[in-house]
Amino acid sequence: MKASLFSLPLLVLPAAAQQVYISSNGSSPRPWCTSPAAVTTYAATPTFYHSNFSYTQTETVRTATAVQSTTPAPTYAPAYSAISSLLSNFSTTTWGNWDPSAAATTAAPTSFVNASDPYGPAAFSSLWEWAALSSFSRGAYSTTVSPTPVPTSSLILPPPLYFGPTDCLPVPKDFVFGVAGSAAQIEGAVADEGRGPAISERAGQIPIPGFTSGLNESQLSNNFVATESYYLYKQDIDRLAAIGVKYYSFSISWTRILPFGLPGSPVNAQGIQHYDDLINYILEKGMIPMATIFHWDTPLVLTGLDPMATSDSGYLLGNFNFGAQNSTFREALVNFGKIVMTHYSDRVPIWVTINEPQTGIVTGPSFYNVIMSHADLYHFYHNEINGTGEITIKMAVTPGVPQDPTDPTHVAAAEHYNEILLSDYLYPLALGLDYPDSFKYTLQDYIPLSTADLAHVGGTLDFIGVDVYSTPVIMPVVDDYQACGLNNDTTSNPYWPYCVYPLYETVNGWNVGYDNNDAVYTEPTYLRTALNYLWNTYQVPVMVTELGISLYGPGTTDFVGITSQQYDVERSHYYLSYLTEVLKAIWEDGVNVKGVIMWASADNWEWGSYEFQFGLQYVDRTTSTLDQYYKRSLFDVVDFVESRRLS
Ligand SMILES: *[C@@H]1O[C@H](CO)[C@@H](O)[C@H](O)[C@H]1NC(C)=O
Ligand SMILES: *[C@@H]1O[C@H](CO)[C@@H](O)[C@H](O)[C@H]1NC(C)=O
Ligand SMILES: *[C@@H]1O[C@H](CO)[C@@H](O)[C@H](O)[C@H]1NC(C)=O
Ligand SMILES: *[C@@H]1O[C@H](CO)[C@@H](O)[C@H](O)[C@H]1NC(C)=O
Ligand SMILES: *[C@@H]1O[C@H](CO)[C@@H](O)[C@H](O)[C@H]1NC(C)=O
Ligand SMILES: *[C@@H]1O[C@H](CO)[C@@H](O)[C@H](O)[C@H]1NC(C)=O
Ligand SMILES: *[C@@H]1O[C@H](CO)[C@@H](O)[C@H](O)[C@H]1NC(C)=O
Ligand SMILES: *[C@@H]1O[C@H](CO)[C@@H](O)[C@H](O)[C@H]1NC(C)=O
Repeated sequence: MKASLFSLPLLVLPAAAQQVYISSNGSSPRPWCTSPAAVTTYAATPTFYHSNFSYTQTETVRTATAVQSTTPAPTYAPAYSAISSLLSNFSTTTWGNWDPSAAATTAAPTSFVNASDPYGPAAFSSLWEWAALSSFSRGAYSTTVSPTPVPTSSLILPPPLYFGPTDCLPVPKDFVFGVAGSAAQIEGAVADEGRGPAISERAGQIPIPGFTSGLNESQLSNNFVATESYYLYKQDIDRLAAIGVKYYSFSISWTRILPFGLPGSPVNAQGIQHYDDLINYILEKGMIPMATIFHWDTPLVLTGLDPMATSDSGYLLGNFNFGAQNSTFREALVNFGKIVMTHYSDRVPIWVTINEPQTGIVTGPSFYNVIMSHADLYHFYHNEINGTGEITIKMAVTPGVPQDPTDPTHVAAAEHYNEILLSDYLYPLALGLDYPDSFKYTLQDYIPLSTADLAHVGGTLDFIGVDVYSTPVIMPVVDDYQACGLNNDTTSNPYWPYCVYPLYETVNGWNVGYDNNDAVYTEPTYLRTALNYLWNTYQVPVMVTELGISLYGPGTTDFVGITSQQYDVERSHYYLSYLTEVLKAIWEDGVNVKGVIMWASADNWEWGSYEFQFGLQYVDRTTSTLDQYYKRSLFDVVDFVESRRLS
């Protein structure tokens, strides 16, 4: 069962920073109190005395430092005008806003395809009617909002954290550090300025397991408005630049560029213009853009209205495949990716092809379409555009760690889990090696990788993007992984496909860390182990491309009062402890961690709900203007990184 593990040449032994359990009794040692300087003699009982009281408590008032511009900003590829010939059959048009009331007066078409004018205004309108959205609404804005300057009074740092890291590890000079959001979760304006319908709009209407976090229909919220970042982006960027955030990671809405989604369909000129404006504005403010091509917002035409019912190779596990099961997915995604890379690569130094495929991809053909389209885009970027930046795919979730690393069955279970979670992607993409055997017997409909396929996909990660929320602890539940993997009947075999028991509990029954809302646990030391695993197993640099938590209490909708929302001290604790472990991985373990991107810039639409708030800024959804407020965690984390940065 574990044969594949030991037949792979590059798989290394457990990393240096692997967690181990050491038994010890009595109180905790205080090693920092034993240095000669720290040793003071205290009587067993204190002596008490009076003094003349005065109000001598002092507070330092520090204001955030805005990001500094690099002028001129470097370029990473030829400008669009020099490489436009790389796009075949490229044409643009404009559709403007969908008008639901106008559409309602015409008979709803049975199909959005109109043979005489397949992409005209009527077809655009029909496309939206076909999307069948109930309670469609728009937000307060209909044009780009001119930003108001961020008041200095909102940039004063909170009182210092009483407890915080006391180590002296620095942050490398070029360490990438910023915040993220994704188009479907922040933009709103879903039917404005030519945008077509995506699966994300359906996810606000019907529960899609694996997508809507187990919410039922009555609990779902739609993304029609989100944080209106499509219109408020200048304000959003101004706020981040003012507080000192250098990188802004965003995704490009597929159906804003291609309302009809597919190759050969015309491109929305207003969509192209929007992202041009966004990128230019980011640069103008001294920040650096990082762009994701596909962040789950599949055009509806690739999935149909009910992706659960229509996926053409079936679905398993109650997940759907983001449309990747569709045999036309690869060509469609690559077509979209080429359009945006050709337009923006001159100014964007970091590209992500696909966000967290593991969250939804559970069939062999989907899997194959994902890794091949990633490789197609990698080669287009480096070999046709000749982009000099970096490109990757974002993996969901860090590798699991054995609950008891001294127990070989726990280690085997963790390895099995990591093979199915990560090595199925990363052996081919990072190392040019075939899938692990465990993947082949688990996904029996897998598409074999030919020698030519392996040559195409191998070495197509400039770094591994990993979205870290928490690291599961793995316990074995079966003796025979192959028998478990082969039995893909998920009703009789609830452990398929991983065939292990992932949990968040130590061998002694404690939670591994603070249990936050939405199944995220604060467990910083496990991150260090996970980073060691990724770097040493797959042998390419790592970037934490998402890191964040949704809190209970302050920072959730059940806790009213904006100043309380802002005081998200548990989030500060999460980030500062995780960043400390990242620095230990870099300086003490030699792990090449290129940077950390925090999720999310502001509270947003978390795939069906506004309840899970991961934001480093609070969004006041009781006002139509959706005003944002900095949370203390954003100040704390920027201060942590920039006070340590080497020059
Ligand atoms: C700790 O205390 C328990 C209970 O008295 C004892 O069984 C165990 O051996 C002790 N462990 C160590 C490491 O001293
Ligand atoms: C308090 O201040 C008074 C007046 O300056 C002084 O006489 C006295 O000694 C002080 N007491 C102590 C405890 O320092
Ligand atoms: C199809 O397109 C033509 C030309 O734009 C238009 O006249 C006609 O109304 C459209 N038909 C439908 C069903 O939308
Ligand atoms: C949806 O879930 C909520 C909370 O669990 C429950 O109160 C409600 O009855 C559910 N609604 C439906 C239609 O199942
Ligand atoms: C260009 O796109 C049209 C659809 O707009 C399609 O009919 C045609 O075959 C495409 N041509 C090429 C060369 O891809
Ligand atoms: C697959 O995508 C094509 C468009 O390329 C679409 O016509 C078809 O309906 C999709 N299949 C499913 C099952 O949704
Ligand atoms: C990219 O580099 C290749 C190989 O040097 C060259 O043939 C091609 O013309 C370059 N493309 C662009 C857009 O400069
Ligand atoms: C599940 O197993 C059946 C036969 O046992 C196989 O035909 C099918 O392809 C398997 N599905 C996956 C996703 O591996």
